[in-house]
Amino acid sequence: MSPTRNAAVLFNEIPNDFPVPGKTTKYDESSTIDLDNVSLGEDGVLVKTVALSIDPYLRSKMRAADIESYQPPYLLGKPLNSLGVGRVVRSQNPKFKAGERVYGLFEHQEYNIFDKDSFLQALPETPLSSATLVGAAGMPGGTAYIGYKEYAQAEKGKTIFISTGAGAVGSVVGQLAKLDGLKVIGSAGSDEKVEYMKSLGFDVAFNYKKTDTLEVLKKEGPIDIYWENVGGATLDAAIETLKKDGIIIVCGQITAYNGGDGYNYKNLWQIFARSIHIHGFLYFDLMPKWIEQFSKEFLPLIEKGIIKHKEEVVHGLDKVGDAILRVQKGENKAKSVVLVADDKDSH
Ligand SMILES: NC(=O)c1ccc[n+]([C@@H]2O[C@H](COP(=O)([O-])OP(=O)(O)OC[C@H]3O[C@@H](n4cnc5c(N)ncnc54)[C@H](OP(=O)(O)O)[C@@H]3O)[C@@H](O)[C@H]2O)c1
Repeated sequence: MSPTRNAAVLFNEIPNDFPVPGKTTKYDESSTIDLDNVSLGEDGVLVKTVALSIDPYLRSKMRAADIESYQPPYLLGKPLNSLGVGRVVRSQNPKFKAGERVYGLFEHQEYNIFDKDSFLQALPETPLSSATLVGAAGMPGGTAYIGYKEYAQAEKGKTIFISTGAGAVGSVVGQLAKLDGLKVIGSAGSDEKVEYMKSLGFDVAFNYKKTDTLEVLKKEGPIDIYWENVGGATLDAAIETLKKDGIIIVCGQITAYNGGDGYNYKNLWQIFARSIHIHGFLYFDLMPKWIEQFSKEFLPLIEKGIIKHKEEVVHGLDKVGDAILRVQKGENKAKSVVLVADDKDSH
């Protein structure tokens, strides 16, 4: 077979603040791959990329290679990477069969060869789309489930506030809390997202760009649990309205990812004054503990439509740069996914 195009998205330049498509990242069609003859090495698996997850944390990987952080940096001139779903084209590894869907850490190119040390998992047969498998049924939904189960101490009658409540993680946290009988308050950055939170059953949903978060929390609180996704003034307002012994689950702080918004915290001292318990966590650290329960208890809730989800899907690897920027600017309307190939395609 003649060589097949293997387009990629390369890390081209370290951004100062927001990543610029075409400058920070570059779509490149110069590489090819011989799908029938390329050497896979011992236990290698050739996979066609189907769906790529575009997440807020990708911005933290766009840094100089010598700066330490919780995620390895992208390397200049090399493809970006993120979690994704693909279809096995050929396999030297008995754990993976040609034609089956897999979940793993994908370089942003049309085809990838995974070696035995790569993060790659076979996916069970499921009617869920590849976009959902990188969203509510993948890392973002998993982050919501494990963080909530591990730290929330949820009980009927308690009140939880979730920032970015319409997002991939927040929308799942809110639905889990509703299933447990909590009062759920969610904030988001557009009226459309507010409507979405209401459609999921949130008791209170508001647009933080139009309504003051502190005022809402004073009226609807006090709160027992704050699910933190953004930082800044929202975190300050949540601390001010948390009960004594309240819980903050720090999942992310998106206002800090693009150089920070310079917010000057006023209420951090209340953390000791009100014995507030703060738990930061990373999905990959907690997941091994919860993976079995996640698969048994949570995935069926998605398959049965009890936990609802929404994806913002764009088609084509060349759209990765724009999708990343949309997430950083808060312009994505739902879980951001780039569909690189037809979901049913093999090769
Ligand atoms: N700890 C972990 O292992 C882990 C794993 C996954 C995700 N996370 C974190 O969880 C959070 C949510 O992730 P996600 O995947 O669900 O993202 P997402 O909600 O699908 O997308 C990001 C959202 O952040 C909001 N946003 C962007 N800029 C903002 C700003 N300056 N102020 C307030 N909100 C802003 C926007 O929503 P609005 O329109 O509502 O502002 C945007 O749509 C992020 O902080 C992410 O880093 C952590």
